[in-house]
Amino acid sequence: MDYLDLPQLVAARGTVRLPGSKSISNRVLLLAALAAGETEVRDLLQSDDTTRMLEALRTLGVSIEPLADGALRVGGVAGVLPVRQAELFLGNAGTAFRPLTAVLALIGGDYGLAGVPRMHERPIADLVDGLRQLGADVSYLDREGYPPLRIASPGPARTDVVRLRGDVSSQFLTGLLMALPLRGAETTVAVVGELISRPYVEITLAMMAKFGVQVRRDGWQRFTVAAGSAYRSPGVVAIEGDASSASYFLAFGAVGGGPLRVEGVGRDSIQGDVRFADALAAMGATIAAGANWLEVSAPASGKLRGIELDCNHIPDAAMTLAAVALFAEGPSTLRNIASWRVKETDRIAAMAAELRKLGATVDEGDDFIRIWPPADGQALRPAAIDTYDDHRMAMSLSLAALGTPLRINDPRTVAKTFPDYFERLAKVTRAVPVVAIDGTSASGKGTVASRVAEALGWHYLDSGALYRLTALAARHAGVAWDDEAGVAAIASELDAHFAGSVITLAGEDVGDLIRSEEISAGASLVAALPAVRAALLFRQRAFRRPPGLVADGRDMGSVVFPDSVRKVFLTASVEVRAERRHKQLIEKGIAASMAALLLDLRERDQRDSQRSVAPMQQSADAELLDTTNLTIATAVAQVLDWVNKVSERG
Ligand code: DC
Repeated sequence: MDYLDLPQLVAARGTVRLPGSKSISNRVLLLAALAAGETEVRDLLQSDDTTRMLEALRTLGVSIEPLADGALRVGGVAGVLPVRQAELFLGNAGTAFRPLTAVLALIGGDYGLAGVPRMHERPIADLVDGLRQLGADVSYLDREGYPPLRIASPGPARTDVVRLRGDVSSQFLTGLLMALPLRGAETTVAVVGELISRPYVEITLAMMAKFGVQVRRDGWQRFTVAAGSAYRSPGVVAIEGDASSASYFLAFGAVGGGPLRVEGVGRDSIQGDVRFADALAAMGATIAAGANWLEVSAPASGKLRGIELDCNHIPDAAMTLAAVALFAEGPSTLRNIASWRVKETDRIAAMAAELRKLGATVDEGDDFIRIWPPADGQALRPAAIDTYDDHRMAMSLSLAALGTPLRINDPRTVAKTFPDYFERLAKVTRAVPVVAIDGTSASGKGTVASRVAEALGWHYLDSGALYRLTALAARHAGVAWDDEAGVAAIASELDAHFAGSVITLAGEDVGDLIRSEEISAGASLVAALPAVRAALLFRQRAFRRPPGLVADGRDMGSVVFPDSVRKVFLTASVEVRAERRHKQLIEKGIAASMAALLLDLRERDQRDSQRSVAPMQQSADAELLDTTNLTIATAVAQVLDWVNKVSERG
């Protein structure tokens, strides 16, 4: 599947048990592999990035075995890797690529390190420069300063005080520090320039300490690993939940009401991204915390406020703040986020482009982004969000579903850190309800559906009108009704508007025109083309706005809104339908013959139910309503009764 359509969501509450932290998982795996002794690793994150690290370690000869309870047993090699020649593929996992580069460069051997094309656009020169001062033999295979890399055995060190830039990515310092105990000699890293993303370095120091190596540090400038330092397994390590992953749910609680609780991180967490909760509090959200959990609710006073924040300490969770800004009063400015430009994608540019699609006004600079939500009272616009092969783009922007129906392109990118993110999200959110009314032509479903919508105070979608409009627009453009690609292109750019019962195409009222027999026949033809149906899918879903939607058509319950709270299949005998249509046409002063209408309806039923995509059919979970002998009022009352039964059930 290359997209996921999220319905507009109206509430978020519940509890989510978080997957393990990516940052901690990959650090622990590497340290356990390098240590003396066996380590049992519990609650490890299972995702693309940790899979890359596990594969690499196994390739290097480290023994890693699953235990019965889901934990892993890592056999430490005590600093001596069994495999001295290997080719490693590390995908787009920065938390695997940088530390492995440092470790292999200091141990030495014959290693190739490569990743996906984006990994080859992410700079690594600062780390390589640092390693070369220690004698490492690292060469660039393609572009100077970027992966892929070739690593040979190190020569003598030029110094024991390495100068390392800290202002592009803190992962360079992290990688180097984790590798230093392998040298044996005392080594100091002197950071040049401002060290960014410091909380991630704190995680590194904490994990090294857990494996028996204390790093002496002087502020954030100098870090020293003593001579003779060596990693020793602590026996068992339990990984805490991922604080960056927590940010999405906390944001849902802040915007969608809450309370929303995450378990796995809390007050005692060593991850900097838990400070994201402070940012939400500054925007007005209500926060509660325990040692191992956090909980967020919407502001007691109503709306969230825009925020101005230096985000250097929460670079990843700050992406979630950018999405929260869509729902705040006033602009939000996120500063000191230059590192966004060298992550999975250029996150500043990507975020700006996608927020604009939703209706926000965005200003961006080298190291900041400023977001104005849509002007007063305006809803977010339905949009297809591109995710740039970046898990955090997909997850942070899913928050926009609290303001609009949303399409997320390439949603599986979340597998990098959170494979079942969308499934978990569905469990703690409630979508705008839909009543789907499908059925045969002239069965009265349009009238019944629009009256049900009126009675409920909900929106109404006449999906047949979209196929009729497409047929009409194709006719205007001189595109033949059987030209699938041509008609689909027209469907995807349909300049149509629905205002009450008035339907316009390119500004012209076409309500009567699209009901003509000729366009009806055309609609039935274009509706059989798969590409046309695909082009109109999101357009139909975008009608799902609060407080609810009543949709009529042929595939509302089966394809477009399979999660409808109530599905009805409306029909009547073909004779009665022909009579109804005849009466309508005569009333409009249009001549019509019963025989022709009967034939036409039979043909159309046949085509609608035989076509290969989304054929008209009664879904197993739909109520059948035969209106042959019913008045409209009775049919409406019956549907409302079914809908009310759902609401009573809760
Ligand atoms: O409901 P209607 O008669 O206005 O529909 C016009 C045509 O569009 C009809 O031939 C069936 C087709 N249609 C469809 O295939 N799927 C829908 N959801 C709605 C209509």
